Amino acid sequence: MKVLVTGGAGFIGSHTCVQLMSAGHEVVIVDNFCNSKPETIGNIEKIVGRPVHLYRNDLRDLEAMRRVFAEHHIDAVIHFAGLKSVPESIQKPLAYYENNLGSTFVLCQAMLEADCKRIVFSSSATVYGNDNPVPFKEGMPTSAINPYGYTKVMIEQFLTDLSAADPAWSICLLRYFNPVGAHPSGLLGEDPNGIPNNLLPYVSQVAAGLRSEVIVYGNDYDTPDGTGIRDYVHVTDLARGHLAAVQYVLEHNGTEIINLGTGQGTSVMEIMEAYSHACGRALPYRIASRRPGDIAVCYADPEKARSILGWEAQKDVGQMCSDSWNFAKNRYEVAPSS
Ligand code: NAD
Ligand code: WQD
Repeated sequence: MKVLVTGGAGFIGSHTCVQLMSAGHEVVIVDNFCNSKPETIGNIEKIVGRPVHLYRNDLRDLEAMRRVFAEHHIDAVIHFAGLKSVPESIQKPLAYYENNLGSTFVLCQAMLEADCKRIVFSSSATVYGNDNPVPFKEGMPTSAINPYGYTKVMIEQFLTDLSAADPAWSICLLRYFNPVGAHPSGLLGEDPNGIPNNLLPYVSQVAAGLRSEVIVYGNDYDTPDGTGIRDYVHVTDLARGHLAAVQYVLEHNGTEIINLGTGQGTSVMEIMEAYSHACGRALPYRIASRRPGDIAVCYADPEKARSILGWEAQKDVGQMCSDSWNFAKNRYEVAPSS
């Protein structure tokens, strides 16, 4: 099959392209590289051993999107493209609503015109908001506490409305928990611009010597060690979930919402320990106050992914940290220790 991957040069998109191509599918990427680097395309090609069809375009450019669909018969779309920083979304709500909603509208318009109505969308556990009990299940009410989260809630609603109006649409809304890790080759991984907001990229930069210490946001939560608990999921497991989801939308119509998480919670201090083990030294850290907007505990009920997609996460936190460190060593050119 031929799959259009929007945001295919990004963290999760690049790993998904590798798996799609390795499984023999053709991939067409549309990315404007606003949060990724063109070199990633070369790295995907290096891993897979064949070329990618790339369009360096903004998704909000309808004429460009029409050209993509005119030049390729697309069987299904995986829509990763979007802005994803929570703090930046609070500072620049217009940019976030404009990019995330606008690009989805234009994409769906181009899909409609090309009669391609199968889409897998990158949603997030953030849509469970602050009031649901763990583990989070797909039927729980959704809400948001920041503009980024609202864009996910709104796009979920928009896509659900599309398929309610036209039953030919086939839509899978994947709610990722905390994607981490990297490709085992060390060629693909998460490489944020500026100071990382997320825990694993920050810890990687401390391990690589770029930053002096990890700042642990709160050790007074109602959790066993007082630090926040999340459901970290390896990016290659997530990528495999997308292959299953794309197959699912080819075979079923309607809208399906599916969590992609492990169902296991890991605390910040447990991540610190696992990463220290991976990089071979104890990492310095300092306890700070809680980060506004953070919840104490977040993890998935992964049962629906198992029953509907036959998908289950396989890699543990130790593997996530060692692959993350392997990528960071390459990326930051860390000299091997004697
Ligand atoms: P990423 O920033 O690495 O990748 C997104 C890609 O989309 C980038 O390559 C960027 O250049 C591209 N892009 C953004 N806007 C575009 C536009 N208008 N036109 C063309 N390209 C555009 O992010 P990621 O971590 O790979 O996340 C992928 C998706 O998954 C996002 O929608 C994100 O919100 C969602 N998600 C991510 C996480 C996470 O923690 N990484 C968790 C839940 C959901
Ligand atoms: C994890 C834990 C922090 C950084 C975010 C988005 C969410 C989703 C995934 C896209 C928390 C603690 C963090 C640090 C720390 N993205 N922490 N020091 O907040 O669970 O989720 O990314 O959809 O929408 O909100 O992930 O990695 O930022 O934090 O102590 O320097 O690590 O308090 O307990 P989060 P995270």
